[in-house]
Amino acid sequence: MIEIHNIHKTFGDKKVLDGVSGVFETGKTNLLLGASGTGKSVLLKCIVGLVKPDIGSVTFDGTYFTNNKLDIRQEIRRKIGMLFQSSALFDSMNVQQNVEFPLKMLTPDMSKSERMDRVNFCLKRVGLEGSNKKMPSELSGGMKKRVGIARAIAPNCTYLFCDEPNSGLDPLTALKIDELIKEITEEYNITTIVVTHDMNSVIEIGDKIMFLYEGKKLWEGTRDEIMDTDIRELNEFIFANRLMRDAKKVEEEEREEEREEQQETKSENQQL
Ligand SMILES: Nc1ncnc2c1ncn2[C@@H]1O[C@H](COP(=O)(O)OP(=O)(O)OP(=O)(O)O)[C@@H](O)[C@H]1O
Ligand SMILES: [Mg+2]
Repeated sequence: MIEIHNIHKTFGDKKVLDGVSGVFETGKTNLLLGASGTGKSVLLKCIVGLVKPDIGSVTFDGTYFTNNKLDIRQEIRRKIGMLFQSSALFDSMNVQQNVEFPLKMLTPDMSKSERMDRVNFCLKRVGLEGSNKKMPSELSGGMKKRVGIARAIAPNCTYLFCDEPNSGLDPLTALKIDELIKEITEEYNITTIVVTHDMNSVIEIGDKIMFLYEGKKLWEGTRDEIMDTDIRELNEFIFANRLMRDAKKVEEEEREEEREEQQETKSENQQL
C-alpha cells in the first residue's frame, strides 16, 4: 500500500499540486485520472522520487520515503517498476538487453543464465516469447509497451507505475495492454498506479480511481461509482465523451424501466 499525504509542488509561480492525499491499495490497479496538464505525471514523479515535493510525504508499506535516508530510499526504489509514457526503451539495445538491463543494475549477484531465465519468463508473460533479438525500431507501439512492462516487472517489482500506458495505441491494443497490467497486478499482488485520461481504462481496469483537477484531488472511488457523482468537474470530464453520455442515458433508461416495473408490481399486489 502506498500512502501520500498533503503533497504540494510549485514550479516557479505555477502551483501544480495543491495538497493531494490518498491511498493506493495493494493488488489493485489504482488510476490517477484527470485532464491534460492537471498534474498527474508530476504527482507520479513525486511518488517515485523523481521530483521532490515542496511539502508532503509518501509512505510505501509503512516505510516513510520522502526525505528519508538515502539507503532507505534506494531500498524502496529497487522495488519500483516504471513504464514511461513513451515506453523509453533503449534504442541501441535489443528486446532482451532492454529487459535484462534493470537486472544487471539491481541484482548484480544474479548469474547470466539466471538473468536469461528471468528475461524469458517476463517476455513470455507479456506475450513476446522469442522476440529477444528484435530491435525497438522493429516493434509496433503495442509491442514496445509490452517490452516496457516486461522490463518494469523483471526485478520482481512490488510497486508498478505506468504513465499513460496506452497512449498512441489503437483501442483494441490499448485494452490488451490495460488487461495485461491488471492481470500482472493481481497475479503478483503489486501496488500499481496507472496515470490515464482514458475513460476506457477507467471502465475496464479502474479498481480505484483518484480524479485530479488543477492539482487537487476532487474525487476518489471505484469504476462502479464514477458515473453517479455530482462533482461537476468530474462529470464534465467523463461525459465529454459521447459514448459515455450514451452509456449514462442507457443506464438511466434501464433504471426508469425498473422503477416502472416495481411500481406496476406494487399496484398489482395492492389490487389483489
Ligand atoms: N519540470 C517542470 N518544470 C516546470 N513546470 C512543469 C514541470 N513539470 C511539469 N510542469 C508543469 O506542471 C503542469 C502539470 O504537468 P503534468 O505533466 O503533471 O500534467 P499531466 O496531468 O500529466 O498532463 P498530460 O495528461 O498532458 O500528460 C503543467 O502545466 C506542466 O507544464
Ligand atoms: Mg502526463
